[in-house]
Amino acid sequence: MSVLVTGGAGYIGSHTVVELLNLGKNVVIVDNFYNSDKEVLKRIEQITGKRPKFYQEDVTDKAALINIFEQETIEAVIHFAGYKAVGESVQKPVEYYHNNLMSTIVLVEVMKMFGVKKLVFSSSATVYGMHHEVPFVENMSTSATNPYGYTKVMCEQILKDVSVSDNEWSIVLLRYFNPIGAHESGLIGEDPSGIPNNLMPYISQVAVGKLEHVNVFGNDYDTPDGTGVRDYIHIVDLAKGHVKALEKANTTKGTLIYNLGSGQGTSVLELIHTFMKVTKQDVPYIIGERRSGDIATCYADATRAWNDMQWKTEKTLEDMCRDTWRWQSQNPKGYAK
Ligand SMILES: NC(=O)c1ccc[n+]([C@@H]2O[C@H](COP(=O)([O-])OP(=O)(O)OC[C@H]3O[C@@H](n4cnc5c(N)ncnc54)[C@H](O)[C@@H]3O)[C@@H](O)[C@H]2O)c1
Repeated sequence: MSVLVTGGAGYIGSHTVVELLNLGKNVVIVDNFYNSDKEVLKRIEQITGKRPKFYQEDVTDKAALINIFEQETIEAVIHFAGYKAVGESVQKPVEYYHNNLMSTIVLVEVMKMFGVKKLVFSSSATVYGMHHEVPFVENMSTSATNPYGYTKVMCEQILKDVSVSDNEWSIVLLRYFNPIGAHESGLIGEDPSGIPNNLMPYISQVAVGKLEHVNVFGNDYDTPDGTGVRDYIHIVDLAKGHVKALEKANTTKGTLIYNLGSGQGTSVLELIHTFMKVTKQDVPYIIGERRSGDIATCYADATRAWNDMQWKTEKTLEDMCRDTWRWQSQNPKGYAK
């Protein structure tokens, strides 16, 4: 029996595949390399000594997915495949709705055909929208401010409806906060194409000399130092959360929703200064205007994940900075040769 990991060559998927292989699970990856590189498969093998089974296919392609389910004995699915850049989603809404919604719908259709009813889904803290007090708790209402966010809200709704329609399903919706860091081997990490959208890869690309300075969007928020506060979570802690979620799906039916975050808020300036302290690299930054759509503070209440799954973050902000830098300095061009 195998776990099918869609988007398993991507940032979060590859780290989760490593954790699954280390636990002796059989893993089948499906990825179309839209935002990843074949090299990651070799790196996963270097870390774990095992090469996961791999299909280069698009998850929106129903015939291709049916073929995978016919070839493999799938017991559960972790669905990472999707587009994830908020800004790009505003420019390309139709592409985002098509890829993120259709991949989820087609996947569920094929799972139903084969009687596979355990699914872990990559959701996001973005579903809390803009109008809540922190910390964010799972029972708060959901909303979105951009097409990417709407795809997550809609996929959550589709999957909740699926489990209402058939009580044999076990669906775990994981709302990630801000994953950063890399595997401690330095062999796999985040490899954004073009200019990074997220703060940590931006910081590390400034440190390695690829970019000149970090732009800090606003220092007049109602936060301790005026810069935006987010909940950073080490990618390996996040990957381990998926292992726990799979275990939970094995024992519980219905839809379960968990925040995966540290429960701690860290400001932009705190992150930059911690990175400089830990890595001894200079990271010049420039304070600019606020960016539209950004909220001042966002962090998780992660008690439900602890109470239900005995999952909590273990790694520190220093670990996140150290591991990011190891990955970035050993792979200044990411996976590219
Ligand atoms: N990284 C974050 O900050 C973050 C935060 C919250 C939620 N998420 C969600 O987690 C998931 C994984 O994120 P990530 O950071 O690993 O992104 P990623 O881009 O590194 O990984 C996604 C993978 O899916 C693949 N993919 C995309 N569409 C596909 C399709 N139709 N068929 C097959 N493969 C396809 C890409 O090639 C890539 O390898 C996404 O759904 C994302 O929206 C990410």
